[in-house]
Amino acid sequence: MTTDKYADEIESVLLSEDAIQARIAEMAAAVGEKYADVEKEVVLIAVLKGAAIFVSDFARALPIPSEMEFMAVSSYGSSTSSSGVVRILKDLDRDIADRDVIIVEDIIDSGLTLSWLMRNLRTRNPRSIEIVTLLRKPDAVKADLDILEIGFDIPNEFVVGYGLDFAERYRDLPYIGRLHPRMYS
Ligand code: XMP
Ligand code: MG
Repeated sequence: MTTDKYADEIESVLLSEDAIQARIAEMAAAVGEKYADVEKEVVLIAVLKGAAIFVSDFARALPIPSEMEFMAVSSYGSSTSSSGVVRILKDLDRDIADRDVIIVEDIIDSGLTLSWLMRNLRTRNPRSIEIVTLLRKPDAVKADLDILEIGFDIPNEFVVGYGLDFAERYRDLPYIGRLHPRMYS
C-alpha cells in the first residue's frame, strides 16, 4: 500500500509502519530488561541523519530513561557505499566516560562506518558499549560486529524511508520501501 505523498515514486513496501513499530517495541523491551539495573541513564548515540527517526521512536519505546546524543560523520566514498575512512563533522556534546552507551543505527551495510565509530568511542572509556540497529544487510556479517539487537535482516537492495534517504528525499516516510528504478536515473 503506497497511498501517500511519495506514492508514485515508491515501487513497493518492504517494511510497513506497523511492522517497524511492533519490532521497535520488542527491541526496546529487550534492551530495557538488559539495562534495568544501570545506575545512570543509558546514552543513546545516533548517527545523523538516517538514525534520527529510529532513535526518536526507540527512546520513547524504551522502558528505562535514556539520554540522546547525536554525531555527524562523513565517510569518504560514494553516496551509496562507504570506505571506512571517516571524518567527524559533529561530535558528542558530552563525555561518555563510565557511561553505558548504545549506538543506535538505521542500517548496517558494509559495517565500515560503525567499526570505525566503535573504535573511536571505545577510546573515550565508556562503561559499556553496544549496538542496536533497525536494519542489517547481508554484507554486514563480514564486518564481525557484535550487535545487541537487530530489527530486520533485509536483502541487498537500496531502501528508503523511515530516516533513510535518496538524495535527501523520503526520510519522512513512516515505512521502508524500494524506490522506483526510474528515480535513480
Ligand atoms: P556501512 O556500509 O558503513 O554504511 O555499513 C551504512 C550507511 O550506508 C548507507 N546505506 C543506505 N542508505 N538506503 C539508504 O538510504 C540503503 O539501502 C542503504 N544502505 C546503506 C546509510 O547511510 C548507512 O548509514
Ligand atoms: Mg544516506
